[in-house]
Amino acid sequence: MDYATPFGIIEDADTMTAVVEAAMRDTTHPRLRQIMLALVRHIHAFLREVRLSDQEFEQGHAFLRAVGETCNDKHNEVVLLADVLGISTLVTLLNNSGDSRTSGALLGPFFRGGAPRYENGDDIAAKGSPGLPLFVRAKVLNTRGERIRGATVDVWQASPIGLYENQDPEQPEMNLRGQFRTDEYGELYFRSVRPSGYPVPTHGPVGDLLAAQRRHPYRPAHIHFVIVAPGYATLVTQVFADDSDHLNSDVAFGVTRDLVGRYELRDAGAPEPVNGLFYTLEYDFVLAEGESTHPVPPIK
Ligand SMILES: [Fe+2]
Repeated sequence: MDYATPFGIIEDADTMTAVVEAAMRDTTHPRLRQIMLALVRHIHAFLREVRLSDQEFEQGHAFLRAVGETCNDKHNEVVLLADVLGISTLVTLLNNSGDSRTSGALLGPFFRGGAPRYENGDDIAAKGSPGLPLFVRAKVLNTRGERIRGATVDVWQASPIGLYENQDPEQPEMNLRGQFRTDEYGELYFRSVRPSGYPVPTHGPVGDLLAAQRRHPYRPAHIHFVIVAPGYATLVTQVFADDSDHLNSDVAFGVTRDLVGRYELRDAGAPEPVNGLFYTLEYDFVLAEGESTHPVPPIK
């Protein structure tokens, strides 16, 4: 291997950053070079600002180690950490905002691949699921207002007690998850149950951090959507319930104004027979032209 040019001996703290940058200058891949040079520059500036003690540095090691050790096939503490630091939302908004497109929102730690395929009108809640029925009707449009047919739409949500099926032994496998396709009018519609807000998992180091910051762990009620259509930038987003608690203090910073949907409580006019009260949600998603991609599920 043809190694990078030697960079010299470290003289002092003041010149340290320039030396590390020099060590990385021969990085072959230009984007990796750009990212790592900026990362080192900003981390070094952070260290100069806060002047970590040796003990604090060790605590940082232990924290990151615990973040890794808390991960398993059903839980991703790395994604959770990015979420509660506002990193996930900032990346999403930098990549998905502007023009008239629907804002993106964080993917979150609970997206699974391989959700069951459903037809429009199907119910993604297992028979006998508790909670008030919810009828969702959505259009998928482009920025010119034209309907996008044949878009693949993954939906997933927490139950009325605030747990995703992978967290809850009472729910059947893949309950409240499904994949739909928009019809010839660019629409999808399905039945579910009204989701509840929920606390993010606090059994790991991220929970300790939130407690130390006197932050509650709750997210407002929402449904997740991933919309993939050829020729359009994939939209990863969430639609929040307008009557939910914690809309103004989402622990994961996911709520932007255009993502607050109207979850209307009604007693008549359901698309199919129901006993008593039910909710409806109507929402129009707007996709910008771009490259369609598929997010990688953070859990199995
Ligand atoms: Fe969620």
